Amino acid sequence: MSFRDRLTSRADAVGAFLGTRIGALPPGPITDAMGYACNGGKRLRGFLVLESAALYGIDAAALPAAAAIEALHAYSLVHDDLPCMDDDDLRRGQPTVHVAWDEATAVLVGDALQSLAFELVAEGDLPAERRLDLSLTLARASGGAGMVLGQALDIAAETAEAPLDLKGIGALQSLKTGALIEWSAAAGARMAGADTGPLATYARAIGLAFQIADDILDVEGDAAATGKAVGKDAGANKATYVSLLGLDAAKTEARRLVTQAEDALAPFGDRAATLRDCARFIVTRDR
Ligand code: IPE
Ligand code: IPE
Ligand code: MG
Ligand code: MG
Ligand code: MG
Repeated sequence: MSFRDRLTSRADAVGAFLGTRIGALPPGPITDAMGYACNGGKRLRGFLVLESAALYGIDAAALPAAAAIEALHAYSLVHDDLPCMDDDDLRRGQPTVHVAWDEATAVLVGDALQSLAFELVAEGDLPAERRLDLSLTLARASGGAGMVLGQALDIAAETAEAPLDLKGIGALQSLKTGALIEWSAAAGARMAGADTGPLATYARAIGLAFQIADDILDVEGDAAATGKAVGKDAGANKATYVSLLGLDAAKTEARRLVTQAEDALAPFGDRAATLRDCARFIVTRDR
């Protein structure tokens, strides 16, 4: 199976699982908007959960954790798009939740998706201590020392007097985007009770490469493909590798990170071929 087919089939499985769980909630606008917010997307984080778990021979038992990270990621996007944050009208090729419904609904949908994420990691067939570890580390990756802190730094940088330097941008992006990607790629090792070291090194590199690619797509991408507005970061005075280094150096840095990620997978040999493909996909994607 090609990498793209594998990504699609994993995305379908995660999407179906998530859709069923949301569909079981009490009917109403919040449930409808939760389902809407979880439509589409590459499901890259869920894919990393499933592929890292597969390295340890864990298959179906990994599905709730894959759905959990996609619910949490969808929450972060709904809030990221709010008028008080990035103020975006288009997401995954459809009007954002606050446009299709209203701001209160978008805030509550984010809240409910975050709660659903923790419900999902807490349940399932894995041993209780492994589920506890997944839940604890997801809380750390997503909260005030993780993604939320990164989002706060991102917003603060828009109005800061001095632009961030490379180190500052790296720190911001490793929290904003890296933390959830790192959790996803290390999840398989956590499920198996194994050393998370090699996967965490891989994940740090792809996490940064992923955000650099996102920032490049904001400049060179096409809204029809990305499903979101492009050309917004410069106008909003966002601190990105592209804003600091320019496009060419940002692309060189992304390629260097892919090589670093591939090298980190050496201990797994050929079994990590899909994760290697995934590192390359992250910087060559058009959406
Ligand atoms: C977009 O993430 C937000 C960032 C962290 C840059 P993705 O590019 O993974 O978005 P979807 O899930 O495919 O829509
Ligand atoms: C969003 O980063 C990161 C999170 C949602 C945590 P961006 O603001 O760059 O993502 P897009 O470009 O809107 O998808
Ligand atoms: Mg943002
Ligand atoms: Mg945004
Ligand atoms: Mg962006």
